[in-house]
Amino acid sequence: MLKVENLNVHYGVIHAIEDVSIEVNDGEIVTLIGANGAGKTTILHTITGLKKATSGSVTWDDTNLLAEEPSKIITHGVAHVPEGRHVFVDMTVRENLEMGAYMYGRKDKDKVIERMDHVFERFPRLKERQNQLAGTFSGGEQQMLAVGRALMSDPKIILMDEPSMGLSPLLVQEIFDIIKEVNKQGITVLLVEQNAKMALKVANRAYVLETGKIKLSGDAKELLNNDDVRKAYLGA
Ligand SMILES: Nc1ncnc2c1ncn2[C@@H]1O[C@H](COP(=O)(O)OP(=O)(O)OP(=O)(O)O)[C@@H](O)[C@H]1O
Ligand SMILES: [Mg+2]
Repeated sequence: MLKVENLNVHYGVIHAIEDVSIEVNDGEIVTLIGANGAGKTTILHTITGLKKATSGSVTWDDTNLLAEEPSKIITHGVAHVPEGRHVFVDMTVRENLEMGAYMYGRKDKDKVIERMDHVFERFPRLKERQNQLAGTFSGGEQQMLAVGRALMSDPKIILMDEPSMGLSPLLVQEIFDIIKEVNKQGITVLLVEQNAKMALKVANRAYVLETGKIKLSGDAKELLNNDDVRKAYLGA
């Protein structure tokens, strides 16, 4: 279980995250929705150690993630699909995937091969194009690669930062199908999205973040029908 408690994060004098508490139970899809600048990425960066918290706690099972080195967090089964994909454009698809399993490294080559086979099975296109430079991929293909790279670490939880951003409607549907599928295979998902409608449809529970504070939380289907949510996030 991932537990964020009374988290506060600052950028200089900007109080970006104010007393945020979030729980993600094993096996759930939980979505964190909010407008531009609400603080969604900051929360994910704090969980993965890329940004330091001012106060509060982040625990994953029995591990205090705030005390871990960012590079160690993945070894606890926590994978991150960053905003804007951030694939390594000068590396091939295969090399990008290998980077996702770097912690197995030379010690456990069989594990890397096993994970690669698993990812190629789900994303045949990545297999076909494994020697192509990632920088020549389309936005949608890069997003698939970023998800594939996260799966290489054999994670227990995946943190996804706006995976649908900039994708065509068909690919948006595909990425949400992938999220559901990944979850069915037993991976817990914390999904950050501006596409509130799709995110609420796929999630079990949701948190609504407004200027650094949690404004609402609850069952995702209930929030989908909540008048305030509909007005602010669903254009209804
Ligand atoms: N490196 C930084 N330095 C100063 N302020 C920052 C920095 N990164 C983020 N912020 C501020 O913190 C707040 C939250 O930003 P954050 O990127 O977490 O929002 P977000 O919800 O992910 O937005 P978006 O949907 O646009 O990605 C914003 O006011 C932003 O301007
Ligand atoms: Mg963001």
